[in-house]
Amino acid sequence: MLDLPGTPDFDVWPITHQATTVQTAGQELTVAWSDGVETRFHAFMLRENSPDPETIHPKAREMAISPLEIPDDIAFLAAEIDAAGALAVTWSDGLATRYHPGWLRAHGWTPAAEAPPAPVLWRGSELTEPPSFDGRSALEDPTLFLQWLEALRDFGVARLRGLPQEDGLLEEIVTRIGPIRESNFGRQYVLEIKDDPDSQAYTSGKLLQHIDLPTRETPFGLQFLYTRANTTTGGEGVYVDAYRVAEDLRREEPEHFHSLITDVWEYNNRARGSDYRGRGPVIETDADGRISGIRYNTFLRAPLKAQVDVQARAYRAYRAFCARAQDPRYELLVHYEPGDLFAFDNRRALHGRRGYDARGGARFIEGMYSDRDELLSRIRLLKRQLRAGA
Ligand SMILES: [Fe+2]
Repeated sequence: MLDLPGTPDFDVWPITHQATTVQTAGQELTVAWSDGVETRFHAFMLRENSPDPETIHPKAREMAISPLEIPDDIAFLAAEIDAAGALAVTWSDGLATRYHPGWLRAHGWTPAAEAPPAPVLWRGSELTEPPSFDGRSALEDPTLFLQWLEALRDFGVARLRGLPQEDGLLEEIVTRIGPIRESNFGRQYVLEIKDDPDSQAYTSGKLLQHIDLPTRETPFGLQFLYTRANTTTGGEGVYVDAYRVAEDLRREEPEHFHSLITDVWEYNNRARGSDYRGRGPVIETDADGRISGIRYNTFLRAPLKAQVDVQARAYRAYRAFCARAQDPRYELLVHYEPGDLFAFDNRRALHGRRGYDARGGARFIEGMYSDRDELLSRIRLLKRQLRAGA
């Protein structure tokens, strides 16, 4: 019996469908599958992912050749589905390779494969509670932990509840996802009242909705708040899905939307010991025009230096964004209970705080940052482990 070939990665690719036929036309190859789906490949893509030790490093499983080592006119001399169900190709440059059917199916182009998973947009008037999971169970059960992470990816906010009170637990949970990202506020910061605050976060006052660290070239992607104690009145967290705000502006106020994706604002932190500055439009879009990030903070904006008509346009648009960011229709109110770990996407979910009365109560919330990359990598790895187990 013929074995299945390896893959150019460390992932696990279940064989969900059988490859039935293969056809080539010039440098294009099409595989038809048992469910009627057809997947298409260019010769360059298949050739440079050939799982042979000359092309893919056998230990690192990274590409070991330059694209220029593949001839311009690389061609398929023969292609067939072999007895193991793998695609076997004989190439015009002399190589013969086989491709794992699970890997092949996952990497072929189909119209359905084009759209990436879309975020679930919300207004506080529709989402009255953040997606919430039992913390103790999530720490025991990788499937539940994964559900928490996927909710965080999709909604931009997700909470673990009922965690024990333990020093170091926040760090343990965050590093279970990936490396912590340290900031000028330290590896871990504590939201409590300071005599000489270097941020309004360290007061009991109201905080307008914002992202943290818009002063960085790439603002931090994830924020985690672990409530250790909270017996004060008020001080609810206020969360707004800024992707929802942005899409509503795109549809209802297109002129302002255009300014918000093109006019550049600068943000600077006002500390004695650091001088960070970050620049960018309020709404970041990717090459396909999809919203990919938000850089919005009403209290860390540097003075706008631009032609006065540009200032006029940029301020009108900023105020339009602000009007929605502070509109109660968009606000999700969150009460921080001891044992809650509230996680959010700092480049999507704006956060703020109602003011609170610090007299006669204690409030102690630990915070930590990480990045979206860590979240997405951990989701993929957990899914890989679950696939391997199955
Ligand atoms: Fe903040």
